[in-house]
Amino acid sequence: MKIGITYNLKENVLPEGELDSEQVEEFDSPQTINAICAVFEAYGFKTTRLGGETNIIEKIKTEKPSFVFNIAEGYWGRNREGQIPTILEIMNMPYSGSDPLTLALTLDKVMAKKILRMKGIPTPKFAVIKKWGELINIENRLTYPLVVKPAWEGSSKGIYSTSVSNSRNELRKSVQKLFERYAGQPILVEEFIRGREITVGVLGNSPAKIMGLMEIKMKGGDEDNFIYCLETKRDWLKKVEYIIPPRIEKKLHYALSHNALTAFREFGCRDVARIDFRIGRDNQPYLIDINPLPGLTPGYSDLVIMTQMSGINYSQLIFSILNTAFSRYGISSNITKLTKVA
Ligand SMILES: Nc1ncnc2c1ncn2[C@@H]1O[C@H](COP(=O)(O)OP(=O)(O)O)[C@@H](O)[C@H]1O
Ligand SMILES: [Mg+2]
Repeated sequence: MKIGITYNLKENVLPEGELDSEQVEEFDSPQTINAICAVFEAYGFKTTRLGGETNIIEKIKTEKPSFVFNIAEGYWGRNREGQIPTILEIMNMPYSGSDPLTLALTLDKVMAKKILRMKGIPTPKFAVIKKWGELINIENRLTYPLVVKPAWEGSSKGIYSTSVSNSRNELRKSVQKLFERYAGQPILVEEFIRGREITVGVLGNSPAKIMGLMEIKMKGGDEDNFIYCLETKRDWLKKVEYIIPPRIEKKLHYALSHNALTAFREFGCRDVARIDFRIGRDNQPYLIDINPLPGLTPGYSDLVIMTQMSGINYSQLIFSILNTAFSRYGISSNITKLTKVA
């Protein structure tokens, strides 16, 4: 069986030498694509690199994969993660991971929070700002400290060590920065949850299962004010400590797992996701982010670190995601010729 990989590369977006920009943070490097292909090849599959450019339809027609392993992030707008899966659906091509609606709903953090609220899953109080005037009433509605983030980003894009504000002046500065850098995008203002950060990995379908819980902690720092921003993530060896399993009481472990699985199900996630929480002063987990397209960079991405620290190597992780996607289509991984299932 031939597996196609869909993805977007950092280097296709910015010329060489300019790869440091946060704008390309969500895209992959050729090393990650090589690592994924190497896993599939080791399991006896043929692979083909389809990328995620505008020639994708021709590429699929020429390469004729039987299945697509999708990690494409897309280029533009809040639907960008769903764009390649939409094309795969038009072509009736089975693929791994969540569908376009789930990918769009979770990328748009405001939409996601509305659904979380409806389902009674605790998430920090928030407001949305589209223009300056809307900042005026914020202090009547929300309590400092406040964190601001672009509404439709991931990979910590637009989130800096200065993103938490304790005063109107700081808030104005952070909002100004985002209006400039992420022009045209609403800004999410959220109450900052001072407390431990725990991310939860989920794998599988009906039923999905918890892969693990991982605490993300600032090395030698003030964990309550920790913010897992780009500067910190990029320098994780020095700045971040990952704890598996987190030392938390049973009740909290249960609440985190339960809320992660509920969110996974309610948003219609498929195959894999990583869900981020902060633990409030009330010892309650607050869901801050659902990632149905978690990073899979060897030795770097949170899900990869989490599984590795619990004894699952990179091949096993990637193969488990493929296998769970196969099961969803009723494909056994040792079947070499696949009949497409819509
Ligand atoms: N309301 C919040 N309270 C506490 N920390 C937050 C909050 N929102 C974001 N953060 C911090 O910022 C990081 C990135 O925010 P997140 O919403 O997960 O964005 P991304 O989609 O870029 O991962 C989180 O991992 C956390 O450290
Ligand atoms: Mg996050």
